[in-house]
Amino acid sequence: MNAKLKNAEKEFLSVGIDLGTSKSAISASNGNRKWLESFVGWPKDFIALKVVGKPVLFGKDALKNRLSLEICRPLERGVIKEGSARSEAAVKELIGHLIQLARSEDGSKNIRAVVGVPAESLKVNKLAIKRAVADFADSIMVVSEPFSVAYGLNALNNAMVIDIGAGTMDFCIMHGTIPSEEDQRTIFTAGDYIDQQLESLLHERHPDADFTLNMVRCFKEQHSFVGEPGEPVMVEIPVDGKPTMHDVTREMKAACESVLPGMLETTLELIAGFDPEYQKGIRNNIILAGGGSQIRGLREYLEGALREYGPCSVHSVEDPLFGGSDGALALAVDMPDEYWENCSV
Ligand SMILES: Nc1ncnc2c1ncn2[C@@H]1O[C@H](COP(=O)(O)OP(=O)(O)OP(=O)(O)O)[C@@H](O)[C@H]1O
Ligand SMILES: [Mg+2]
Repeated sequence: MNAKLKNAEKEFLSVGIDLGTSKSAISASNGNRKWLESFVGWPKDFIALKVVGKPVLFGKDALKNRLSLEICRPLERGVIKEGSARSEAAVKELIGHLIQLARSEDGSKNIRAVVGVPAESLKVNKLAIKRAVADFADSIMVVSEPFSVAYGLNALNNAMVIDIGAGTMDFCIMHGTIPSEEDQRTIFTAGDYIDQQLESLLHERHPDADFTLNMVRCFKEQHSFVGEPGEPVMVEIPVDGKPTMHDVTREMKAACESVLPGMLETTLELIAGFDPEYQKGIRNNIILAGGGSQIRGLREYLEGALREYGPCSVHSVEDPLFGGSDGALALAVDMPDEYWENCSV
C-alpha cells in the first residue's frame, strides 16, 4: 500500500465504486477489491424466504435462486430504470452490500466514497445515486465512469477513454481538467446490444437450437472477435434436448462488428469537435476500457480505421473489471478535504 493510501486509511475507509449495468465493483483503501453481477433479488413470499434463508440476495446468488425471487437489474441503457422505486431500492442494496464486503474488520470507520456511473446516469440519476449512498457513506462524490478510469491510469491530459460496458459505450476526452458534458458522449450499442444481435442471428440460422440470452452472453464472452476469426467458433447448444455442436463463427463476427460503425463515428466526431491543435495528441492516446474492451481484434480495428486520419495509438486497460473502481478509489484518496465538504449530501 502506498503512503497516501496509508494516511487516508488511518482516518477513513476510502472506497471507489463502479456501479455498472451488468457488473459492479468496489476497491477500498484497506486493499479489499470485490465485484458482483448487478442483480438484486428479494424473496417472493414467505416460502421463498424460508428456501433462500436471506431477505435479499446479490449477483450470482440471486440468479441461482431466481425462481424464488423478484429479481432486479437496476440499470438499463446506462440509467436507473425510470420511475421504478424498486430499482432505486436495488441500487441502494447493491451499494450497501459492496461497502459491507469491502469493510472487513474495520466496521466502525467513516466512509468516503467516489462512485463512478455510466455517463448518462450521471446526468439523469446523480441525486438518486447520492441518496442511495448516503446511508452508508459520510462523504460522497459521483463521477462518470470513463473519467474514473482515466484518473486511475493518470491519463488526465490529451487522452480519450472509450468505456465499453453492457448498457452503454461511453466516450470521454481528457484535457487537463474535470471533463464537461461536451467532452463526453454515450451511445447505446454496447455489450447488451451485441447479445441481442447474436441471439436473433442464431435464431435465424439455427431455428431448432434451444438457448437463452444468458447462454448467448456466455458464448460471446468466450469467443468474441471482430475482423479475421482465429479458428471456427463452435458452441454446444441443445436441439430437442440433445447437446449439439454448432458453428457460430459468422454470427459471432456479425454481432460483434455491429457496434463498430457507431464506435468509429462517435470517436471521430468527438475528436473533430475538439481544439485542432490537440487532436493529434488525443488520437495518440486512446484507451479502451470496460468488459467489451476484451473483444478480440477491437483495438487493432480502431487503430487501423483511425490511421487514415493520421498517426494514432489505441490500447486496452489491463484490468477491465476493476479499472473503474480502482480509478474511483484513487480519486477518493487524492481528493482535497474541501471538495468532500462541497460534495457531501
Ligand atoms: N471477453 C469478452 N468479450 C466481449 N464482451 C465481454 C467480455 N467479457 C465481458 N464482456 C461484456 O462486457 C459487458 C460488461 O462490461 P462492464 O462490466 O464494463 O459493464 P458495466 O459497467 O456493467 O456496464 P455499463 O458501463 O454499460 O453500465 C457485458 O456486456 C459483457 O458481456
Ligand atoms: Mg461500466
